Amino acid sequence: PRVVKLAVIPGDGIGPEVIAEAEKVLDAVTAGGDVSFEKTRFSLGAGRFLETGDTLTDDDLSAIARHDAILLGAVGGVPGDPRLKDANIERGLLLRLRFALDHYVNLRPSKLYAGQAGPLAEPGDIDFVVVREGTEGPYVGNGGAIRQGTPHEVANETSVNTAYGVERVVRYAFDLAERRDRRLTLVHKTNVLVNAGSLWKRIVDEVAGEHPDVAVDYLHVDAATIFLVTNPGRFDVIVTDNLFGDILTDLAGAVTGGIGLAASGNINPDGAFPSMFEPVHGSAPDIAGSQKADPTAAIGSVALLLDHLGLREEADRVSRAIEEDIAARSGARSTSEIGDAIAARVQTIR
Ligand code: NAD
Ligand code: IPM
Ligand code: MN
Repeated sequence: PRVVKLAVIPGDGIGPEVIAEAEKVLDAVTAGGDVSFEKTRFSLGAGRFLETGDTLTDDDLSAIARHDAILLGAVGGVPGDPRLKDANIERGLLLRLRFALDHYVNLRPSKLYAGQAGPLAEPGDIDFVVVREGTEGPYVGNGGAIRQGTPHEVANETSVNTAYGVERVVRYAFDLAERRDRRLTLVHKTNVLVNAGSLWKRIVDEVAGEHPDVAVDYLHVDAATIFLVTNPGRFDVIVTDNLFGDILTDLAGAVTGGIGLAASGNINPDGAFPSMFEPVHGSAPDIAGSQKADPTAAIGSVALLLDHLGLREEADRVSRAIEEDIAARSGARSTSEIGDAIAARVQTIR
């Protein structure tokens, strides 16, 4: 039987709460099957830093890299907590993992499920995927500050965009569009960010030539936010840089009924490194410990993980269980009640 080595990073805040439910569903969908998951838990995040002073050691990183895949809840403390200033959990842990494991595709699907009331009066049919570049852009941290704290302070954040990095994520997005509705939208800000913008535009135009059956269009990021609210059905595959993709996917989550539903995968398509699956949301300190978090995003991330590992049938069962659960929702449920309900449904779907 196949054994999958899974690294589990529950993290901080609601991370452990939603990961407990994701694991419940993973256990349910694999019970009695011929694939088993061998899990290793890694205690990482703001909590670990406050205890030991470590963010992500080299040993942690190489141990995690020896797994087939990673499931992560959320990491990070209360924004602005002065005790976490030196930890920089977001860069030192999350981005370090994404960069070191070459997660150049950050895959973030958005779908308005049947029975789900989003905030829009006339949402239409919403079903698109944001392909967010994951290893470049302003996230590289190629900047610096001088004369800090003086009236003459200069603080720079440089956006790094390489032809290699842009081309590989653009190719992934076109391949994905070929398997979907064959519509691809580049989102950027080419009117202002002319250097990076022209590189992205040129590469999209070049790769488009190899995909004559994919309809390609372009939107500036500000206009894209308008259409995400007024006509989200116009999107199928959106390809965009690291920062724009971050912002658009929180908006996409809100538009499709809440950030608690939004799943994601940080993918290394070449398979050289383990891919990492996590909800789009963060550690939500405002509701942590109260069983108020919706674990659906974490459970949906398990579906993406299973699909990535080629376990299509299992992935499909989890997705269908989520769909059925959402269609049947009424009234407030706790985090674990939602997890229990989806885990139970998974076992009835064959
Ligand atoms: P957040 O996503 O944690 O929370 C934003 C809002 O959404 C909050 O009101 C929260 O209660 C709500 N929310 C989030 N997840 C929910 C869920 N599953 N169910 C119901 N409501 C949910 O964003 P933030 O407050 O900006 O960040 C908190 C911390 O998390 C920060 O330290 C941030 O850096 C970190 N963060 C981590 C990740 C990650 O680990 N991938 C992602 C985003 C933010
Ligand atoms: C996300 C988060 C991260 C990002 C932060 C916490 C580094 O917001 O996964 O969307 O910006 O990518
Ligand atoms: Mn984000």
